[in-house]
Amino acid sequence: DKGNHRHFMAKEIHEQPEVVSHTLSRYVDFTTGRTRLPDDLPFDFRGVRRLVISACGTAYYAGLTAKYWFERFARLPVDIDIASEFRYREAPLDPGDVSLFVSQSGETADTLAALRYCKGAGQKVAAVVNVQESTIAREADAVFPTLAGPEIGVASTKAFTCQLTALAAIAVAAGRVRGELSEADEERLVTALMEIPRYMAEALKREPQIEKLAKTLSKVEHVLYLGRGTSFPLALEGALKLKEISYIHAEGYAAGELKHGPIALIDETMPVIVIAPHDRIFEKTVSNMQEVAARGGRIILITDPKGAEATGVEPFETIVLPEMPATIAPLVYAIPIQLLAYHTAVSIGTDVDQPRNLAKSVTVE
Ligand code: M6R
Repeated sequence: DKGNHRHFMAKEIHEQPEVVSHTLSRYVDFTTGRTRLPDDLPFDFRGVRRLVISACGTAYYAGLTAKYWFERFARLPVDIDIASEFRYREAPLDPGDVSLFVSQSGETADTLAALRYCKGAGQKVAAVVNVQESTIAREADAVFPTLAGPEIGVASTKAFTCQLTALAAIAVAAGRVRGELSEADEERLVTALMEIPRYMAEALKREPQIEKLAKTLSKVEHVLYLGRGTSFPLALEGALKLKEISYIHAEGYAAGELKHGPIALIDETMPVIVIAPHDRIFEKTVSNMQEVAARGGRIILITDPKGAEATGVEPFETIVLPEMPATIAPLVYAIPIQLLAYHTAVSIGTDVDQPRNLAKSVTVE
């Protein structure tokens, strides 16, 4: 049931404040402001020397975002790879360490094979999964559920932000267990997580502006997405979302890589979507925007009021979100990214929920 939405994807985008809040309630105690891990966790984050994450597609981008969090909050080294690469690489693994798999369906062939490889190497395997009856959920030693509910649209939206929600809370919990975060740090971070739904609701209000912008975007052939820090995986996710449903060629890059190649593509016809909350690396992204502007590239900037003030360039369009704690920005900034892909596809007239050549669950490699 699409409710009063035209597509499942639209419904699922709009459901995010609610399902994220639901997922969060599993990992944090709203009254005490503390994180909670399952009591029967078959490993102790204190003893983990390295976390190996693998997944595919959007789930991989959620894992890539989590790398930043595990390293920052828990000082836990993270190796992350696409499951199809990881499984054949025969990476040396330390028995007793932990590997983590992220999957909406819990049936993705490459992710499952990677899980079995790690289990075979004597690792404890944990999985962030949306479908609780799935093979990955069954075979993992520890399951961290996402409570997104069934996701029908082939393009993942609410499953992605629920994965991020669970992963952020787990990273904070790991930081606490490992003694890297104080009780006060934990409370501050949990308070930030609890505000995600409110900020998401605010971000959804940008829909009319984004819908208008999508009309312009629907006429282009290529789009570049740039971001730094946790906005980098989101740049990759934005590009994937756009190409999946609108069939427009899009690429996501770490903003710092611009000079190392993609800048050659920039001309007046090239929209560049810059994801840049005013965080501690904002200034670095400003220089990239200046490089794009100097070559006539059309910048679409997604930022906050401080960022909008401090660009030093005149973007073609600026989507302004409220100022928010840095940790939760990737979850909230995901919304304009998803809406932009959605409305561009609708404007082109593609089959948004069932894009050509794609399946919801990729059970063959
Ligand atoms: O079910 P999974 O999370 O394991 O699926 C992984 C990818 O196939 C999936 O995220 C895919 O990239 C989506 N179509 C992205 O929108």
